[in-house]
Amino acid sequence: MQKFAPIREKLNPQTAARQIFGLIKREMALVEAEFERQASSNIQVINYLGDYLRASGGKRLRPALLLLSNLAVGGNASDESVIRLATVMEMLHTATLVHDDIIDNAVTRRNRVSVNARFGNQSAVLMGDWLYMSAFETSLRERSLEILDILTRLTRKMTEGELIQLTVLGRSDITENEYFDILQRKTAFLFSACCEIGAILGGAGPERQAALRDYGMNLGTAFQLADDVLDFTADEEILGKAAGADLLEGKLTLPLILLVAKIPEYAETLDRIIVEGSYESGSREELLRVLEEFGTIDETRERAYRYAAEARKNLAVLEKNEYCLALENVPDFMIDRNK
Ligand code: IPE
Ligand code: IPE
Ligand code: MG
Ligand code: MG
Repeated sequence: MQKFAPIREKLNPQTAARQIFGLIKREMALVEAEFERQASSNIQVINYLGDYLRASGGKRLRPALLLLSNLAVGGNASDESVIRLATVMEMLHTATLVHDDIIDNAVTRRNRVSVNARFGNQSAVLMGDWLYMSAFETSLRERSLEILDILTRLTRKMTEGELIQLTVLGRSDITENEYFDILQRKTAFLFSACCEIGAILGGAGPERQAALRDYGMNLGTAFQLADDVLDFTADEEILGKAAGADLLEGKLTLPLILLVAKIPEYAETLDRIIVEGSYESGSREELLRVLEEFGTIDETRERAYRYAAEARKNLAVLEKNEYCLALENVPDFMIDRNK
């Protein structure tokens, strides 16, 4: 008789989130406290901006992944080093958001006025730089060249991702390969680094370290695909940042790349929307209707599920403890999220 792999039951995003964050509640509180310490300074303006950013919240997905990866390989996640590095990852992420909002001219972030819109581009550039450097300073306390190597490479990749993105801005003939290259640089490498560093600090050894690095890469790819879908489908109030903004910024993401592949003449409409910087020539609702009619939002989600499945496969070499199971459930929380 043919054997079938057991069908995995998908959790709803809220249940998955409760399960994932429930396991690391104590450690996440330590990360929050460490973040508060690291983002403070005796310079008043830095303190003020640091507070503004920290208090705006965010899902805290990156430190959570570092902690869970660490626990999954048998580490002690309340260890000072682990908490410190988990905080470093959130600081690096925050720095990229501050800079990304300047680049994208974003006015809202996490349901608040973005730092650039509120305090100006000058302050935002410098605050982003400060967060980067502070994160590196903190990471240096580990005295680990291996970790420093991952962090510097990662920051370079993220910057390259944003720079390459600028060079393809406004191009409706961007290829899938170009799109995935940008996406992996700007988002997936950070996820990968979180999981890998968690593994290193847990003494994982080369095989499990590589598995978690690959898991993070696949997961991060799924995550950005979901973010790009949300830009079309989400409710702005829930999302906490502008929706429908990618195309207006000149960024064609996968749902549109797939659409143009199916109906090449639609590129003209997209070009017009980009040039006008508004949805006058084709309303956002109309665009969503076309995307739905041609099924490219669903196809993009399907791709995200495929990356998630690959990510789960990467976990096969780990022992099936509760933390590993939580890592398996992370995509359920991520792909069908509404913010
Ligand atoms: C936003 O990341 C930037 C992307 C890579 C899409 P998140 O959606 O994790 O942002 P916060 O931290 O929860 O606000
Ligand atoms: C994420 O890309 C880039 C970062 C690494 C910050 P986006 O430009 O899509 O992120 P959001 O949608 O502004 O959060
Ligand atoms: Mg952006
Ligand atoms: Mg986005």
